Parts: sequence; C-alpha cells; structure tokens
Amino acid sequence: MKQKDIFGMAMKAFYFDKDETPITVHSPDFDDDEIAIEYLFRNYAEMPKTEQKALKLAYGKVLDVGCGAGSHTLYLQKKEIDVKAIDTSEGAIAIAKERGVKNANVQDFYAENGCYDTLLFLMNGTGIIGNLINTDNFLNICKEVLKPGGQILIDSSDLSFLEDDEEPNNDFDRNYIGEIDFKISYKEEQSEYFPWLYLDFDMLKLAAEKNNFNCELILEGDHFDYLAKLTLKK
Ligand SMILES: C[S@@+](CC[C@H](N)C(=O)[O-])C[C@H]1O[C@@H](n2cnc3c(N)ncnc32)[C@H](O)[C@@H]1O
Repeated sequence: MKQKDIFGMAMKAFYFDKDETPITVHSPDFDDDEIAIEYLFRNYAEMPKTEQKALKLAYGKVLDVGCGAGSHTLYLQKKEIDVKAIDTSEGAIAIAKERGVKNANVQDFYAENGCYDTLLFLMNGTGIIGNLINTDNFLNICKEVLKPGGQILIDSSDLSFLEDDEEPNNDFDRNYIGEIDFKISYKEEQSEYFPWLYLDFDMLKLAAEKNNFNCELILEGDHFDYLAKLTLKK
C-alpha cells in the first residue's frame, strides 16, 4: 500500500507558506517526538559534524539516498560534485528541485540500478534497511550499485542507552533495541507504521564483514551517533 507523503506535505507547507508545523514521530516503544521541519532545510554550518564529515569524504559520482529536501545534495552540487538525489517522497523531490537540485528523482533505493563511487545515507541512514533481517539484502544492493573501489557513507545511533538498567531485560526473544516501528503524522494526516532500523557500530561492522565489506568508524557524534565508511574487501 502506498504510504501518505507526510514528509512531502510538511516540506511543501514550510517552503511555500513558511508553515513551521513539525512532523510528529510515534512509536509504541517511546513517547511521541518531533522533527522540526526547518531541520530538513539545514545548511552545512547547521549540520552535525558526522554529516559535515560525510560531505567532505564524498567523491566521484554520488548518490544521496533519501535526500529529503536535498540539503546534502545542494552542498555537494555547489562543490561541483556529480550528485544524484533520490527519495520515495514525491513532495520531497519536488522541493529539492525547487531549491535548485539539478538531478533528483522519485525513486526507491531498492530499485536503484545506477553505478556510483559514493552512496550517502544520512540522518540515521541505516533507517531504510528497516529491520535486521533485511541487512544482507540492503548490502547486496549496495554492492550492485557501487563502482569498484566505491564507498558507502552511513550514519546511525546506538540506542542501547535507552535500555532500562534497573530492569534488565531477560526476554531473549525480544527484538534488537534498534528495530523500531514508527509512524509519522502532520496536522490531521498520518502514515501507516513502517520499520526503521538504528544499528550500533558493532552490529553494522558484523553485518558488513559478513557481506565482504570493510567497515571503518569515521567519527562519533555527540549523542551515541556515528558515521561509518564501508568499502568492499579486495
Ligand atoms: C529522515 S529523512 C532524511 C532526509 C535527508 N537525508 C536529511 O538528512 O535531511 C528520510 C528520508 O528517506 C526517504 N526514504 C525512506 N525510504 C526510502 C527508500 N527506500 N528509498 C529512498 N528514499 C527513502 C524518506 O522519504 C525521507 O525523505
């Protein structure tokens, strides 16, 4: 079933009407949270240092996956880097184009068939993996669209800080702490629930190595977040 384009609605209202209504994020596991819509329009100076570092490391033909309003692509474009931006949200791609992104397509990463030196997955880039069981599939698609010697730059967070130390979890069937079900809402509209994966660095490294990638910790952020670089083993 096609999801409602919540990101697109909020971005359009902000861009065209200066409507700052945030996107609300709901999960059965957590209290509701908000994404400030301005944040999706951040410039380089406003980005966390992990994203700034990823932009500095990006080279060659770049694919900005889940580009949103195109903030990272716009920076790379200015540096005259050959970058293509994709997102499943039609509204996000419309706004990215309005903001000046030259090469932007409504496209699901899982149907991508280009060939790139750098794959960029930012703002919890592991989210689009969905759940742990899809990690091998995700990395296989990355392999297919990476040029020889290419790199994946991806950020995520270790959510284990959310675990309750007072009540240790003895339920061994429990899902991994980073497997989250979210739905997002904006004004009266809301999406269906969708899976969104947070991978701690050790789990990412394990999955990467199993799939013949090297995985390097590039930078740790201020709140259990990090940037990693994956390259195929020779
Ligand atoms: C958290 S937002 C991040 C947007 C942007 N990268 C940023 O940092 O501002 C995640 C984006 O990924 C997009 N997305 C989710 N699944 C996707 C997929 N399979 N292929 C392409 N884009 C996807 C969503 O539509 C959304 O715009």
